[in-house]
Amino acid sequence: MQDGLRIDGERLCRRIAELGQVGAIAGGGVARLALTDEDRAGRDLVVGWMREMGLAVTVDALGNVVGVRRGREDLAPVMMGSHIDTVRTGGRYDGNLGVLGGLEVLATLDDAGIVTRRPLAVAFFTNEEGSRFQPDMMGSLAFVGELPLEKALATAGIDGATVGAELARIGYAGPAPVGGKKGKVHAYVELHVEQGPVLEAEGFTIGAVEGVQGISWSEFTLTGQSNHAGTTPMRLRHDAGLVAARITTFARQVATEMGGHQVATVGLLTQFPNLVNVVANRVVMTVDLRNTDETLLKEAERRVFAFAEGAAKEEGVGLSRRTLARFEPVAFDAALVGRVEAIARELGHEVRRLPSGAGHDAQILASVCPACMVFVPSAKGVSHNVEEYTSPSDIQAGGDVLLRLVRELAG
Ligand code: GLV
Ligand code: MN
Ligand code: MN
Repeated sequence: MQDGLRIDGERLCRRIAELGQVGAIAGGGVARLALTDEDRAGRDLVVGWMREMGLAVTVDALGNVVGVRRGREDLAPVMMGSHIDTVRTGGRYDGNLGVLGGLEVLATLDDAGIVTRRPLAVAFFTNEEGSRFQPDMMGSLAFVGELPLEKALATAGIDGATVGAELARIGYAGPAPVGGKKGKVHAYVELHVEQGPVLEAEGFTIGAVEGVQGISWSEFTLTGQSNHAGTTPMRLRHDAGLVAARITTFARQVATEMGGHQVATVGLLTQFPNLVNVVANRVVMTVDLRNTDETLLKEAERRVFAFAEGAAKEEGVGLSRRTLARFEPVAFDAALVGRVEAIARELGHEVRRLPSGAGHDAQILASVCPACMVFVPSAKGVSHNVEEYTSPSDIQAGGDVLLRLVRELAG
């Protein structure tokens, strides 16, 4: 496979820009929260491209979309993909690169008149981000059979709407069954932006992703008593806002003390009644903890959860905790990681191995087939931000690695 075939990076960048117009927001980013009207418009655009390319498109009951290009033999396909939903203040590349990069691989093969032995598939999975509905990676979890469809459909989002109702509303509750994918996918390869600073800072073009760190998402509900800000003595307060603030700073402290790969984020915090002169009687907040090491992640959870209980008690505030998502660290297929590294070198790119800090559909697909990821640099390490950017030359490099690996796997 040394024929030097390369993807058309300009065509790929044009598609990224066009999809980036759907749900575009100020600053060059996009807001396509899962199953919103904007997500529907993005889906329609990508499905249109899949159909134009002659792919056999299926939509399953959770809205996962798979486009298949026939192979010479009727075998399990080599799958590429990612997601096209975004956080509310997202960039154009997160997820979208993996899906459109997959389509670009197929378009390149079309142009060259190459038909692989195995079929090739490009998938985009519903609600990878998990910003609106938890858990994240919801579509791929159901796709591999680890999340029951009924449970996913009944999930209520941050705005109260359910996955099932929203899927039906946007017309993406498809007829294909979900689950039971063991043996149905030969291998899964996901091209993605790093979303962190390592590749750029160290001068690498390609990341061979060794695995994904464990993720723990909790929601805390704190129940205090609202009262007058001017008349209530400090010793008589049951201030849910104070407890929330203490949990927030403690989570940061735990991550700092533990060091290594431990990170902690309080990304959502809603305070009621949220008025200048009223003590807060209720807070709903989330804590996102991640570590590449499961034992250390459990240690961080133990410390944060124990502190939260103690802080609530001291203030006479009620506390309840609910797990929104929990994923153990995943190691990608060693042989595939080695191939990403070797192919990148063959193509003349600087490559290093690294773990992924973000969650990805690839970590879920890894339970049913060999899976791996190819990372390309994120400018200034910025992601989940409208300023997310990856240069056309890095996109070309990542797409070329994807093309070569997929051709190898598909024969
Ligand atoms: C999801 O993509 C996450 O890592 O937050
Ligand atoms: Mn992503
Ligand atoms: Mn993301």
